[in-house]
Amino acid sequence: MKGMRVFLGVTGGIAAYKAAALTSTLVQRGAVVDVVMTAEAERFVAPLTFASLTGRPVYTSLWDAPERIPHIRLVREANVALVAPATANCIAKLALGVADDLLTTAILAARIPIAIAPAMNAAMYEQTSNLEHLAALRDRGYAIVEPEEGYLAEGERGVGRLASEERLLQTLERLVTPQTLSGVSVLVTGGPTREAFDPVRFVSNASTGATGIAIAREAARRGADVTLVLGPTLLAPPEGVRTVRVTTAREMREAVLGQSPDTEIVVASAAVADWRPSEFSEKKGKKGPPSLDVTFVSNPDVLAELAERKGKTMLVGFAAETHEHEENAREKLRRKHLDAIAVNDVRGERGFGTGENALVLLWGNDGRKDLGSADKATLAARLWDAIEELRRCS
Ligand code: CTP
Repeated sequence: MKGMRVFLGVTGGIAAYKAAALTSTLVQRGAVVDVVMTAEAERFVAPLTFASLTGRPVYTSLWDAPERIPHIRLVREANVALVAPATANCIAKLALGVADDLLTTAILAARIPIAIAPAMNAAMYEQTSNLEHLAALRDRGYAIVEPEEGYLAEGERGVGRLASEERLLQTLERLVTPQTLSGVSVLVTGGPTREAFDPVRFVSNASTGATGIAIAREAARRGADVTLVLGPTLLAPPEGVRTVRVTTAREMREAVLGQSPDTEIVVASAAVADWRPSEFSEKKGKKGPPSLDVTFVSNPDVLAELAERKGKTMLVGFAAETHEHEENAREKLRRKHLDAIAVNDVRGERGFGTGENALVLLWGNDGRKDLGSADKATLAARLWDAIEELRRCS
């Protein structure tokens, strides 16, 4: 979000306080945010709150600084506009083209992508008039970030809560990202697998799933239709991605092979356990014997099996290596009949966890692109740039 210019319109609903938290997150991620509030919004949150968070003036009226023509300038300088929360009244005005305050006038003058995040009581939200206005805006290309179901300020439950911050941020990112994977079906595997030998003990590895989650999130941001098959992790899967949770390698195999054969790109970043204990005891083993022998049998190789039936699917594997990285990865590329493989150095703390990582992408006999060292979101973006380039050239 670094450098992103956001026009944030805040209207008069109780969820206006959440717009302040959203503003803070946007600013922390490097965005420049111009906030415009309606008079009703000012009853819920003071303009000073937004001014303090953004370090910029907050506009509340068409006549604040008329010589600077704020309704035009603010939406010309922004890359994207978001109205959050959007009341039924504001939605109706936008649908009808009524421009009677700074916010509605600016949105009417905007030529940038616009997102609307309704928040109101469920009864108001479900009014035919409101739903028709939202449908009209959607038809005109506005991104409607649907409200969520849950506790409402009036003490009732229903649909009307402002969309989560994560969904709002993802919508903004998607609106400013070229939709280069629009309509492309993508399958990503991520995380470790866990292979148990009694109800509380298992063997696994240090993968956290952060790489798979970042890859799935970036694909969705570029417009892909994404399924993420995710091993056990405490990290939250991305919004807007179909997530299938699995525990063992065999479950991962079922989930992956059960996906549509029309999947166009598979990125297998999961750290699948190659072995599993040959026996599982229903009873928890008791302390006592000075040593414990566990025999392992090999697990299915999910990616290799997928390659056997891959058809036109582009397969991108990962190679977690501690030595002779590229030689080992090239051997896997050939052995598993992959289109490309990303080499991951997993010595010590590197590679696993949410910190930095370094990747090199290999393909064909000698294709090689160093994706450098960066945080996982940046590397995921570079990986997709490289995959898209390979697809164009194939
Ligand atoms: N993989 C898989 N199923 C397995 C093992 C690996 O689908 N049982 C996939 C991984 O998701 C990754 C690629 O195969 O995309 C390579 O994984 P890696 O663990 O590096 O290689 P292995 O084939 O397991 O070889 P080794 O452990 O001997 O390095």
